[in-house]
Amino acid sequence: MTSNLTTVSYIGAAILFILSLGGLANPETARRGNLLGMVGMLIAVLATVLGPRVSVDGIPYVVVALVVGGAVGLFAAKKVQMTQMPELVALMHSLVGLAACLVGFASYVDTSVQFIGAEKAIHEVEIYIGILIGTVTFAGSVIAFGKLSGKIGGKPLLLPARHWLNLAALLTVIVCGNAFLNAQTIQIGLTPLIAMTGVSLLFGVHMVMAIGGADMPVVVSMLNSYSGWAAAATGFMLSNDLLIVIGALVGSSGAILSYIMCRAMNRNFISVIAGGFGGGTSAPAGGGTQPAGEVVAVSAVESAEMLREARSVIIVPGYGMAVAQAQHTVYELTKLLREKGVDVRFAIHPVAGRMPGHMNVLLAEAKVPYNIVLEMDDINADFPEADVSMVIGANDIVNPAAQDDPASPIAGMPVLEVWKAKTSIVMKRSMASGYAGVDNPLFYKENNRMLFGDAKTMLSEIFGALKG
Ligand code: TAP
Repeated sequence: MTSNLTTVSYIGAAILFILSLGGLANPETARRGNLLGMVGMLIAVLATVLGPRVSVDGIPYVVVALVVGGAVGLFAAKKVQMTQMPELVALMHSLVGLAACLVGFASYVDTSVQFIGAEKAIHEVEIYIGILIGTVTFAGSVIAFGKLSGKIGGKPLLLPARHWLNLAALLTVIVCGNAFLNAQTIQIGLTPLIAMTGVSLLFGVHMVMAIGGADMPVVVSMLNSYSGWAAAATGFMLSNDLLIVIGALVGSSGAILSYIMCRAMNRNFISVIAGGFGGGTSAPAGGGTQPAGEVVAVSAVESAEMLREARSVIIVPGYGMAVAQAQHTVYELTKLLREKGVDVRFAIHPVAGRMPGHMNVLLAEAKVPYNIVLEMDDINADFPEADVSMVIGANDIVNPAAQDDPASPIAGMPVLEVWKAKTSIVMKRSMASGYAGVDNPLFYKENNRMLFGDAKTMLSEIFGALKG
């Protein structure tokens, strides 16, 4: 393939990636967006492998790498549960970071291309920054994987001198950078480069270890953004324009997502990153006032009675619905209630579940019509008019302590005001807390009923009772 054809293919792929992102912004067009992204990636890979930069001798290595990598990816995607998706994503981000780091070292020691003067300086800056971003992304993503999968505890590790440690790491990176750029030979330059890599590794670990469990959604999207910038840095090192474009797209969309997540959780981005900076918003889970009162448990038959009497029902799905894989049963029940003339709508919190859009994906999979699935800001004011709010495996996102208890670790996070409905029914297996590890006063409210059990089983029982 000639270099011109490669360039044209890259432009085509870049356009497809932009259209793909546009498609992914809406559940109705998300499938098409995914497809456009896949076609774009196929064109990008073919244009690169068959392009002038890969020699004929190199093609077998690339094919072997593609087959092995593709097989591992296919196996992981088939095996992973929907609820483990964020862990898989974190692991994939770590690979992008590792790749940027390895490409950086390979470009530095590669003597086949000689740069001189300003070009040499620019190339070395690209390498240094690429390895820095790549290493931080790698280390941070591995720790995020550990936290999301429960292999590492969710509590933030708040070292006494953590801000000083971060400052020392920054100074070391600057000093090593100066030594690296002034090194006369590759051998001399390798020492500050390796030292900086070690410091960045520790910084990446420390950065994510210091972030509390409740702030993990922001971390997931932040690392998503970092992985984009790591890919862009790899593009600069390899002089690959398409990689720069894709990296910038992922980097900036991840940054926008982090901003949206912060807004959804009423968190300050800087304080999340610094782990506890600025008002202690990342206080260890479990703080706050203990709820008082009694919990009233109901059966599935009693819940069915309440739904039968209702004119308006708002369903709030959460992580537990994903665990129970109850989305199809939820929709069966929704259809039945709508046939009986009940107005049923869904309220979606931006951080419900364990990844952005988690609930939308599950409901779309069950074919729930998009027009009855509403975002928090569009439906929160409607709870006072609802007869029943039905919480399915959600906890933190419906916790009134976020509004009422300034000492709560989730204080200030906007929540779905389910308690304002005439009656709220919370479906979960026990009194256990949610992801943030905080008690939920909703369970003790006078108009709240607890339906204890697995969400799918309980929904099937309600369905049976309503049908009967
Ligand atoms: P959570 O607060 O985690 O609560 C989920 C509840 O589901 C649990 O209390 C659990 O109670 C219940 N549950 C689990 N399995 C169940 C089953 N089979 N049947 C019925 N209930 C079941 O979930 P949420 O309300 O969706 O809030 C999300 C939380 O995750 C937030 O704190 C958010 O910050 C965090 N987070 C979100 C993301 C993103 S990007 N969305 C990423 C990381 C973390 P039982 O054990 O008693 O059943």
